[in-house]
Amino acid sequence: MRINEIITKKAEKKELTKEEIRFFVNGYVANEIPDYQIASLLMAIRLNGMTDDETTYLTEAMMYSGETLNWDFLHKIIADKHSTGGVGDKVSIVLCPILAALDVTIAKMSGRGLGHTGGTLDKLESIEGYTISLTEKKFKEIVEKHGIAIVGQNEKLVPADKKMYALRDVTGTVESIPLIASSIMSKKLATGSNCILLDVKCGNGAFMKNVENAKKLGSLMIAIGKKLGRKIAVEITNMEQPLGKAIGNKIEVIEAINTLKGNGPKDFTEIIYSSAKTLLVLAQKAKDENEAKLLVDSVISSGKAYQKFLEWINAQGGNIKVFDNKNWFMPKYKYEVKSNLEGYLKIKSAISFGLVAMKLGAGRTKKEDSIDYEAGIYLNKSSNELVKKGDTLFTLYSSKPIDNNLEKELLDSIEFSEKPYIIKSVFAKLI
Ligand code: URA
Repeated sequence: MRINEIITKKAEKKELTKEEIRFFVNGYVANEIPDYQIASLLMAIRLNGMTDDETTYLTEAMMYSGETLNWDFLHKIIADKHSTGGVGDKVSIVLCPILAALDVTIAKMSGRGLGHTGGTLDKLESIEGYTISLTEKKFKEIVEKHGIAIVGQNEKLVPADKKMYALRDVTGTVESIPLIASSIMSKKLATGSNCILLDVKCGNGAFMKNVENAKKLGSLMIAIGKKLGRKIAVEITNMEQPLGKAIGNKIEVIEAINTLKGNGPKDFTEIIYSSAKTLLVLAQKAKDENEAKLLVDSVISSGKAYQKFLEWINAQGGNIKVFDNKNWFMPKYKYEVKSNLEGYLKIKSAISFGLVAMKLGAGRTKKEDSIDYEAGIYLNKSSNELVKKGDTLFTLYSSKPIDNNLEKELLDSIEFSEKPYIIKSVFAKLI
C-alpha cells in the first residue's frame, strides 16, 4: 500500500477502505509517514468529507493506536461524559458525583483548558492537593472503591490523536466534522466506558457555531458508537452566553458546590438535570426521565451528592477542609463593572467573557502558562435579568492589578432588550 495513492484516492472523492485507513494511522504513529503527506490527506478529508463507515474505521484505528482501558473486572456500567468545551463549563464537577451517588460508575479522563474555554482539570487542581495524574492501578482502585475518579488524559492512550490534532491545528484541518468526531470518539472509547453523553456546545463561544452543524457532529458520533457497540447520547447545549454565573477556577468550584447543594444558577442547574436524566436512562438506572429527575432531586436534597463529591475529592488527595473556609477564595484585586443603561441584559458573545477571564489569569494562551486560581468573573447579572442604571453587572477578580480596559471589552459584548426574551439551555437531544 502506498500513501500517495491513498491521498490521491481521497482527493478524487473516493471511499477509503478499513485497511487503507489503518495503514495511514499506524504509519503516522510509527513515524513511517511524514507530516506533509498526512497534512495533505487531512486536507483532502476536510474538503471531501468521509462516509460514516470511513469515520468509524478512522476512530477504531486511532483508538487502537495505543493502550485502551478495560473495566470488565467491575461488572458494572461505566459512564462518561464529554463536553466540546465552553465558557463557565463546570458540568463534570457537578454531574459526575450526582451520578456516582446514584451508583453509576464514573471513570473519566479530562482535558486542560486552552484559550477562552477553561478545562475541568484546571478547576479541580485549584483545590489544594487534588492530583490528576494517577497510575492506572490507582485510578482503577479509586473507581472501584468510590465509584468515581477524574484524571488527566493518559499519554499512552490514543497517541494518533495527539499527533494528528497537533498537525490539524497548524494546517487548517481542525474544522472537519469527521475529523472532530473521530478525535473525540477515539479518546472516549479508549477509556472503556460503555455509556457516553456528549455535550456538544453550540454558539459563538463554541467550536460548533450553529445547531445544524452540531446535529451533524452529534449524529455522526452516535453512528460511530453504535457501530462499535457503545451507547451514546448527545445534547446540543447553548454556548451563546457563559454557563452559570462564575467563570474561572476556584470561583467555578464554589458554584459547582452550591449547585450540588441545590443552590445553583438556573441555566446551569437545567443543564445538570438534563444531562443527569439522559445518562440515568441510558445507563438503565431509571425507566424514564421523570423517574430520573426524582432520583437526582433525592441525592441533592439528602446531601448524598455533595457527600460523594467530598469523598471523591478526598480520594484524589484534595483538601476538603478548604470548602469550610470562607477565605478560600480571596482574590487580591476586584473590579466592579457598572451599568449606565437599563433593560434586560443580553450577552452577545460568550467568547469575550472567556477571553477577559483568560486575561485576568484564569486561562492559558500557551500550554506552558500557569494559572491564577483566584482570577475570574462573576456575573452579578446574567442574560435576561433586569438591570437598572448603576447596578453592578459583573465583578472581575485577579491576583494582579486589573486593567480597566477589560471593562470596555465586556461592555462591548452586551446589549439590553426592552422586554425579557426566551433563552434555551438545551437546543436538542439526540439518542
Ligand atoms: N475536541 C477534540 O477532542 N478533538 C477535536 O478535533 C475537536 C475538539
